[in-house]
Amino acid sequence: MSTSRTISHLMLVAAAFAAPWIAHAADKAKAPDAKQLDRGRYLVRIAGCNDCHTPGYEEAAGNIPESQWLTGDRLGTRGPWGTTYPPNLRMYMQKLTEAQWLATARGLKARPPMPWFNIRIMSDTDLRAIYALIRHLGPAGEPAPAYLAPDKEPPPPYIQLVLPK
Ligand code: HEC
Repeated sequence: MSTSRTISHLMLVAAAFAAPWIAHAADKAKAPDAKQLDRGRYLVRIAGCNDCHTPGYEEAAGNIPESQWLTGDRLGTRGPWGTTYPPNLRMYMQKLTEAQWLATARGLKARPPMPWFNIRIMSDTDLRAIYALIRHLGPAGEPAPAYLAPDKEPPPPYIQLVLPK
């Protein structure tokens, strides 16, 4: 056996043994730790995500079980832009990898009253924590109603914003 064949053979053997360890290490790096989930919980509460994306959150003064968080809301907000509904983020995040969420968040632009400009300036650590929490909670709920153009009358209940001229 030539030297180069021996080396490549050894490398193949090494790769075969190394692979499970590499995969294991990658899984470990991806698995959310308790601290990251706590950070996510903290952020979705103080950054207001629950205020709009969790049904009844305001009315219950935040006393809504985590299992119902961020399932989207049927309460629309109507203004000159039309009527918007906070989407179901529990379903939304299932479609994205963490990397896709980071890229989406960095370029996010949505209609009012979504504070997309706040999401854009969140640190990667914070965006990852929000993602980890939502993925940890898993998919739940129904899709929120679709956006309605300004000339479409939304069914009640909705919030009507009367803006200065
Ligand atoms: C004041 C209410 C409000 C708050 C606070 C809020 N959202 Fe939203 N969000 C909305 C509404 C309404 C929409 C739908 C906007 C539209 O239809 O263009 C939306 C849309 C989104 C979208 C989808 C954007 C898209 O079109 O792809 C994401 C993701 C999102 N919100 C995440 C968050 C996160 C994370 C937080 C907390 C950091 C948050 N939102 C806080 C109301 C809110």
